[in-house]
Amino acid sequence: MARFIEGTFMLLLHLESVDEDGFARQLRTLLGDYPVVQRGDSFEPKLIRYIAAWKPQANAFDGLDNLKAILSLGAGVDALIGHPGLPDVPIVRFVDRELTQCMSDYVVANALMHHRCLSRYLSEQAQKNWSQFYPPPAWNTTVGVMGLGVLGSDAAQRLKAVGFDVRGWSRSQKTLNEIQLFHGESQFDDFLSGTDILVNLLPLTPQTRKILNHDLFRRLRSGRLAGGPVLINAARGGHQVEADIVRALEEGTLGAASLDVFNQEPLPAASPLWSAKNCYVTPHIAAISNPDSGAAYFARAILEHEAGAPLPHVVDGKRGY
Ligand code: NAP
Ligand code: GLV
Repeated sequence: MARFIEGTFMLLLHLESVDEDGFARQLRTLLGDYPVVQRGDSFEPKLIRYIAAWKPQANAFDGLDNLKAILSLGAGVDALIGHPGLPDVPIVRFVDRELTQCMSDYVVANALMHHRCLSRYLSEQAQKNWSQFYPPPAWNTTVGVMGLGVLGSDAAQRLKAVGFDVRGWSRSQKTLNEIQLFHGESQFDDFLSGTDILVNLLPLTPQTRKILNHDLFRRLRSGRLAGGPVLINAARGGHQVEADIVRALEEGTLGAASLDVFNQEPLPAASPLWSAKNCYVTPHIAAISNPDSGAAYFARAILEHEAGAPLPHVVDGKRGY
């Protein structure tokens, strides 16, 4: 067990665009006499043992020579992995029941919206048009989930419980009850060709960047889901080629898209995605870590690790997720 002299080592918070003060209050309560500092405080960088990070700036790790671990507020660690000053220490990523439930809520809500043709009825309503088109039962629609990790496997199982036909694709082979499973490049085409609604829950890595492009959209099944195949991207903007989505929606290769993440966030006012046909934009709200659950997770990780336990959910640096 590491020797901890009270007041010597510290946790630094480097949390952009979230309630950092709220996290600091919660963490100070939970960590007792383990000191917590924020960027505006005065402290000796060499005494920082842990850093809790979200959207780290260029100088985030400068002078942190005795860092033991990075605690990522995000489930996705692409911004950390791609950071030019990243120290060679373990990265703990955020894995949390509430975050997982919120992501599955987002995915199920959007899949049902598209399956039940709600955009069609909205436009009929605008024209005061009574047109009785009956959507088929959910089992008629196949939802394909890309990425079967913590979030993808939960979303897949909840989609199955709603009644959809569900299939999933991952890097390595998996077992998940009642879900048709595909893995690796060699099975990607088979996975796509039977998918009506594609859900992306992959991590952003060099292998997955720009994977959501026009060529992929053309490989989805058309003719089954009324209106055409649908894309739901709740992972990262870097996965999608935005011009290809606009084009696919205009020409009907895609019938609709639900996008929670973008190459540039906030999505610039000039982006054609705001007004693209059947494009549902949300501002990266599918599932976000909050100060209650986030602080409890980080505090537990630190206290247990200081008492000799291994760090939880450590990112595999070679895989990049
Ligand atoms: P995870 O547990 O690490 O799971 C990642 C999954 O993707 C695994 O099944 C993995 O396959 C698969 N995968 C990785 N690279 C692949 C490749 N090249 N080909 C095929 N499959 C590949 O991640 P998670 O916790 O589910 O989170 C997924 C992502 O969601 C995060 O990285 C983040 O970007 C995003 N996210 C977004 C929000 C939001 O609010 N919009 C919130 C939280 C997270 P193996 O199982 O074979 O390793
Ligand atoms: C949010 O986008 C996350 O990665 O947790």
